[in-house]
Amino acid sequence: MKRVAILISGGGSNMLALVRDMAEGGYARPVLVAANDPRAGGLAKAAALDIPTAAIDHRAYPTREAFEAALAEKIDATRPDILCLAGFMRILTPGFIHRYEGRMLNIHPSLLPKYPGLHTHARALAAGDAQAGCTVHEVTADLDAGPILGQARVPVLPGDTQETLAARVLTQEHRLYPAVLRRFAAGDRTPVLLP
Ligand code: GRF
Repeated sequence: MKRVAILISGGGSNMLALVRDMAEGGYARPVLVAANDPRAGGLAKAAALDIPTAAIDHRAYPTREAFEAALAEKIDATRPDILCLAGFMRILTPGFIHRYEGRMLNIHPSLLPKYPGLHTHARALAAGDAQAGCTVHEVTADLDAGPILGQARVPVLPGDTQETLAARVLTQEHRLYPAVLRRFAAGDRTPVLLP
């Protein structure tokens, strides 16, 4: 059974969706939920599910590399086969990415290659896009530009705000990420395309 480590920065709703799907599908199991912020609400949710957790506060380290060394030590101790970035808001150095390349996934709240980086919903609204959505991709040294493993689309509706669009996309994230993890855990990199 594949061992999955999940990295979060916030509430961990994507982490919960992944954990629930692994429990239901039995195709993998979570071996760690780690956060770069001790205040991340997802840590308590993971602990309540008896998943090992770790909080590595990036502000406690003098350099990005020192933070990542501490994070990698915690990750490697759990011997994960797959890493899932789930609402993880730190940019990772090429050195860290190289360590896990080919087995590290991320979910991004836009239809990549459109809108890499931040404020994706505001940018889609400003552009007058008719559709928005989310993408799961392999993490490579190019930010938000690795091979796409899945996408889900949502309509942009009249009167949408960043908040209403973000909520609609987040619902699809919780469907897409587990579907991609199932395939990826089975060694299948065929993209999952949700209508
Ligand atoms: C959300 O904005 C989501 O679009 C992105 O990360 C943020 C927090 O997600 N992937 P989560 O609830 O912490 O999983």
